[in-house]
Amino acid sequence: MADSKKLYIKTYGCQMNVYDSARMVEVLGQEGYVETQTPETADMILLNTCHIREKAAEKVYSELGRLRPLREKNPELKIGVAGCVAQAHGAEIMERQPMVDLVVGPQTYHRLPKMLGALKTGQKAVLDTDFPQEDKFDHMTATRQTSGRVTAFLTVQEGCDKFCSFCVVPYTRGAEVSRPVARVLKEAEELVSKGVKDITLLGQNVNAYHGEGPSGGEWSLARLIWALSDIDGLARIRYTTSHPNEMTDDLIAAHGSCEKLMPYLHLPVQSGSDRILKAMNRKHTAETYLKIIHKLREARPDILVSGDFIVGYPGETEADFEATLALVETVGYGQAYSFKYSARPGTPAAEKPSVPADVADARLQVLQALLAKQQSHAQNVMIGQTIKVLFEKPGRLPGQLIGKTEHNQACHATASPGYLNRIKNVIVEAATSHALSGQLI
Ligand code: 5AD
Ligand code: SF4
Repeated sequence: MADSKKLYIKTYGCQMNVYDSARMVEVLGQEGYVETQTPETADMILLNTCHIREKAAEKVYSELGRLRPLREKNPELKIGVAGCVAQAHGAEIMERQPMVDLVVGPQTYHRLPKMLGALKTGQKAVLDTDFPQEDKFDHMTATRQTSGRVTAFLTVQEGCDKFCSFCVVPYTRGAEVSRPVARVLKEAEELVSKGVKDITLLGQNVNAYHGEGPSGGEWSLARLIWALSDIDGLARIRYTTSHPNEMTDDLIAAHGSCEKLMPYLHLPVQSGSDRILKAMNRKHTAETYLKIIHKLREARPDILVSGDFIVGYPGETEADFEATLALVETVGYGQAYSFKYSARPGTPAAEKPSVPADVADARLQVLQALLAKQQSHAQNVMIGQTIKVLFEKPGRLPGQLIGKTEHNQACHATASPGYLNRIKNVIVEAATSHALSGQLI
């Protein structure tokens, strides 16, 4: 397409933003845009932003500052801000950065064509951060593009009603909404028909899924997973992110009996101290979390568990932090993300006095060292095992391919390009903290 316009999209934050960016590319594709990897050649630049932790808004302003010379060189260049910072600070962004042409929240990007239309009719800038009644997915006629990739994200649920006291998600993404089963199955079939073999179902609270079934009634995530597992050609199903209180027995059982459901679960706990969990409004205890992990391992002994942790939550004492370390020791995480608490304006926790930064920093280091040790262990135990790898792309070294194991670990092996997009047995010979390597069998 010689006369197509070019779109550069920069994505921050979680996998839901990665999914949303892909969908925005599809929607704008209908307006004649094709994606480019170089902002210098773009006719439109979109920043898909994240508001979960510190300095999110400032990062957006400095990124916009960096884009200024491009705009000065090309006054026709359109600049947009999307995502959760757009949702939270849209009006302010437009005021402070007049070069921003459009601001679009996570629930309204299906209206991008209309917004572009408004710009064309001479409107200076447009903002849409509604939480509309209509479902954005129903209003997107664009079909899924996969650019030949064998893995894909599929959003099945959005928003959060949990209101953990530190978290902005319920405010930026809105209330919990599940997509109807038929829509999800159709999108999955479309992805599989394009060669996708590994689908990760996404939702801020994905295991709270309760989508409308094809003949009425509500389906649980487990039921949805079973239906997806009937799709020929789909080999692997994953889901993220989950809340402990929504780990229902049918979902745990599926980990034991659904072959296509991969032995990996990201189950954030945030803290191991019941006092802090209560202050965080998590509505679960360390013990109930550990019980879930126990049941999961009964169902699927080799499941790799991943988690999220926050250290330095307001009021966290040394004893609370020790309780977190003890929980980590008990669970044995194969992977984890840990963060220093960051006060988010508008959340209840932001009102409370914070733990001194040096104390929180020191705790974060201790926790991360323990989690790194556990992750190395989880990697090392794979050595000598024969595992199934879905090869996705060329590796860093010539002659190598890299792909994912069932446990969501990266693995590379010497293999010809003919093995791309295929699942092959590999015997693991070595492991670093981030990747396995082995020989094809
Ligand atoms: N400060 C630090 N970490 C946070 N997270 C969410 N909000 C905050 C915050 N205010 C972390 C949680 C969550 C992950 C996505 O980000 O651990 O699970
Ligand atoms: Fe945020 Fe808690 Fe909802 Fe997760 S469950 S998105 S941490 S409010």
